[in-house]
Amino acid sequence: MAKLDGKTALITGAAVGLGEGIAEVYAKYGARLCLVDIMAEVEATAERLRREYGAEIIALVADVADKAQMQAAAAQAVERFGRLDIACCNAGVCRLAPFEEMSDEMRDFHIDVNIKGVWNTCQAAVPYMLKQGGGSIVIASSVTGDIVADAGEAAYAMTKAALVGLTKCLAVEYADRNIRVNCTQLGYARTPMVEKMAHESNPADPESAIADIASAVPMKRLARPMEVGELFAFLGSDEASYLTGSQVVIDGGSTLPETMSMGVN
Ligand SMILES: NC(=O)c1ccc[n+]([C@@H]2O[C@H](COP(=O)([O-])OP(=O)(O)OC[C@H]3O[C@@H](n4cnc5c(N)ncnc54)[C@H](O)[C@@H]3O)[C@@H](O)[C@H]2O)c1
Repeated sequence: MAKLDGKTALITGAAVGLGEGIAEVYAKYGARLCLVDIMAEVEATAERLRREYGAEIIALVADVADKAQMQAAAAQAVERFGRLDIACCNAGVCRLAPFEEMSDEMRDFHIDVNIKGVWNTCQAAVPYMLKQGGGSIVIASSVTGDIVADAGEAAYAMTKAALVGLTKCLAVEYADRNIRVNCTQLGYARTPMVEKMAHESNPADPESAIADIASAVPMKRLARPMEVGELFAFLGSDEASYLTGSQVVIDGGSTLPETMSMGVN
């Protein structure tokens, strides 16, 4: 029996990047999936995973920032599969700008997608989890904000740190009703988001920005989306039955070095 057999999971931001990697690992482990994304490409991702894993999948175009759309997405997942066991709150955005130039619109864009989007996804999923006697929520925070930050990430860092607080509160609020809530704190993975950030950081040579990230990570590489998917699968599964309110760092050691110059190797 596979780790997620019999489970239904809703995954946001599933068209590309980490969400696609999470969806692939969930499909590999036997979950039935409701993939949600603001981009219509989510259907192509669903079709690939149906073909490669024989997974039962519905793909929905919805904006996590719109509560009614997320409620409709959760309702469709339950209508199709009869239950909703896991919500992976993965959709997120990141735009870089110097703080003194960052517009209120750009700040609010991050708040709408990164904070309200997760809030909406959780509020859409929790009633079904309560009704069926439990569930698991996995929230994509980041090492950025709560642990480290790079210049230009003020809005992003603020919103990702806020998700740690949301994780803690929901974990304690629902612990006695068998809903576990955990968050992941990822370093860098190569995704469309990071390729765009590399372009904003070094328009003349974005590849060198990505190579520089890798060289600063003790494991000397970025994460692969499916490695992040494995963590989401573990946290979503019954194997993590005593984990709630946790912040799990997955960063190849990137937040460990104290300096780039001291030491013997
Ligand atoms: N890639 C990294 O290095 C990294 C590191 C730490 C945390 N994260 C977090 O992981 C998550 C995924 O990141 P990624 O790198 O795959 O990003 P990405 O930009 O490559 O992909 C994000 C996906 O979310 C979708 N999306 C964006 N806004 C949406 C909305 N309003 N409603 C529904 N879907 C929406 C996009 O269409 C896209 O499919 C984000 O929350 C991000 O903050 C990423």
